[in-house]
Amino acid sequence: MNEISQPTAQQGGRHGNPLWSSRLAFILAATGSAVGLGNIWKFPYITGEYGGGAFVLVYLLCIALIGVPILIAEVMLGRRGRRSPLHTMATLAREDGCSAHWLLLGGMGMLAGWLILSFYSVIGGWSLAYVGNAVSGQFAGADANQIGTLFGDMLARPATLLGWHSLFMLVVIAIVCRGLKSGMEKAINLLMPLLFLLLLVMVGYAMSTPGFEQATSFLFNPDFSKLTTEAVLTALGHAFFTLSLASGAMMAYGSFLPKEYSVTGTAVTIAIVDTVVALLAGLAIFPLVFSNGLEVAAGPGLIFQTLPLAFGQMPFGILFGSLFFALLLIAAITSAISMLEPAVEWLEERQQGNRLRAALIAGIAVWTLGIVNALSFNLLGDVHPLGFLTAFEGKTIFDLLDYLTANIMLPLGGLLMAVYAGWAMSAQALAQALSLQPGMLFNTLRFVLRFISPVLVLVVFINQLV
Ligand code: PFF
Repeated sequence: MNEISQPTAQQGGRHGNPLWSSRLAFILAATGSAVGLGNIWKFPYITGEYGGGAFVLVYLLCIALIGVPILIAEVMLGRRGRRSPLHTMATLAREDGCSAHWLLLGGMGMLAGWLILSFYSVIGGWSLAYVGNAVSGQFAGADANQIGTLFGDMLARPATLLGWHSLFMLVVIAIVCRGLKSGMEKAINLLMPLLFLLLLVMVGYAMSTPGFEQATSFLFNPDFSKLTTEAVLTALGHAFFTLSLASGAMMAYGSFLPKEYSVTGTAVTIAIVDTVVALLAGLAIFPLVFSNGLEVAAGPGLIFQTLPLAFGQMPFGILFGSLFFALLLIAAITSAISMLEPAVEWLEERQQGNRLRAALIAGIAVWTLGIVNALSFNLLGDVHPLGFLTAFEGKTIFDLLDYLTANIMLPLGGLLMAVYAGWAMSAQALAQALSLQPGMLFNTLRFVLRFISPVLVLVVFINQLV
């Protein structure tokens, strides 16, 4: 590891280190990271697949008992270290007198962020393509066959998929290479309000459709007979994914958080906004699905195949279809920049602050792995790397990376982060890093970090193995 300077992990920030301009800027950036394809694409389709309300309830429990405490821990660690996740963990381990191996936790987070972005940007590319499809009226009056062909054709053509994936990565690199203030903050300040506005417009539209009631009862009436072990693991993995935990993103964003803002309050706000957005996305999508008598358990194709069919049959479908896919694209971009940032921050530290070069190297590395992911929908569709194991049977490279990151790397990273904050750091160090007085709130949080979050993650893991 290249130790350029050895800043102490005091909370004042390292020399020349930019910080978010305000608490709101950090909240917008962190919610921008959290609110993404996970909320608008993945949450509705897994909820549809695992039967609705009961799954939503487990997911909410995972967010509250596991997600929020770990989010607090991750942002706190980032702010203490004030460097890229890998260097942050190395610095903190030294200061806290712990094993130097803790740097692997930062490294694993950065690796997870990099792997996720490599397939995330392929779906980001689909969103770009679908903005075009919606605006040009391709869904209007189309039947299931035509919509299916539109999606199938896109997936089947390697050049098309690679083109959209490349364009998406280009946008992400262009934002990140400009740095914190003039790149990320500027883009986020513009995109996030737009995202909230578009979401509200979509929910308003969905409320006017006949399927709205059926959708609310689907989302909020739990049917526990549909709750399987797999559903619980999926809910847990998704809680990590949707809060961008253990992927370096929140630690990197935390490294720019000024000392005077409360980590706990901010983390709770982020988790609430993220959860509300996921539920609103469900309320925007399922009414359209029910109103048109379509299949809720359509899987990953739910918003790319089922929804366009609904838009094609509804009044003002072109307008609302375009708005919906613009919303999806914005959500994807603000998340993707947070996934690239940890690696860029790390390379920047190694290269004496050359941000443009760092962003290009990190971006091209992600783009290259993304090619393999894009091709796993066509040319590499028959490649199932771990297919000899029953758990991975039939999984393409894309499916495998999604599974390995969300269901294994993120929960494992989160578990270790809770262990670091709860066990490796002294109570005094933790209280100081969170600017909390010893008392009820602090004691509860520390107890949850020491016992509840890690044990729950372990139980779900072991259950899966059994
Ligand atoms: N939270 C994002 C979503 O729900 O789409 C995904 C994500 C962003 C995962 C950033 C990991 C990350 F570092």
